[in-house]
Amino acid sequence: MIGIFDSGYGGLTILNKIRQTLPEYNYLYLGDNARAPYGTRSFDVIYEYTLQAVNYLHQQGCNLIILACNTASAKALRTIQQRNINPNKLRVLGVIRPTVEMTPSRTHTKHIGVLATPGTVASDSYVIELLKQDPELIITQQACPMWVPLIEAGEHLNDGANYFVEKYLNELLVRDPNIDTIILGCTHYPLLLPKIEEILLKKQPNISIISQGEIVANSLLDYLYRHPEFKQELGGNCTYLTTESADKFTESASLFLSENIRAQHIEL
Ligand code: DGL
Repeated sequence: MIGIFDSGYGGLTILNKIRQTLPEYNYLYLGDNARAPYGTRSFDVIYEYTLQAVNYLHQQGCNLIILACNTASAKALRTIQQRNINPNKLRVLGVIRPTVEMTPSRTHTKHIGVLATPGTVASDSYVIELLKQDPELIITQQACPMWVPLIEAGEHLNDGANYFVEKYLNELLVRDPNIDTIILGCTHYPLLLPKIEEILLKKQPNISIISQGEIVANSLLDYLYRHPEFKQELGGNCTYLTTESADKFTESASLFLSENIRAQHIEL
């Protein structure tokens, strides 16, 4: 079974694409909705929460876990890999590496914008990793602290959300008008894509937006091909776990997934 973890609903944007690419595998999704958002929390707290989730998914039988959360990938992944797991029994992968690897091929101006949570921005992970790919890239990061709370509250497609979507896009583009590629560096943000595209269309229609779902799915496909030792049982099943109320998750996740699911409540 492959474990997919996020602080909340955002990882469903990754799970969707992974299931389209690898439909035959079994998945266990865990959203720590009761403690989301992670993006405004300290390094120690994000590490501790992420480790609890990783341990839980491993105990349930996952030997491969994707941190479908940039904040956890930026702040907890490396420490967990170095300190907490035996790589012969469990592999934990993140979403930042596959995203930065394909970014240089998308830009002409070499000016990249990164929209992410305050935690991911403060970690500088995108800047460090992107510059390893191409030292000539000019990277501007913009923290969007209100976007995850809007999505977790189910308010993201309402008119009230427009103010904050426009505010952060404006702030980014004022700081660097030459940006031609924007990374959505938070797995929640694709849920705001209709609004982001609408606003960018009015301002700078030629900007290309990088969403992570397909990128992470293709990178997992490649990983499983290169690591046949991490054999997975097949069946095409997906189980959904949440630290919030099962009913709340079931209702909201069904909207994000456009299919009916039934979630289970767990404690971490
Ligand atoms: N989906 C998480 C990410 O990719 C959201 C983090 C949060 O809970 O703030 O960063």
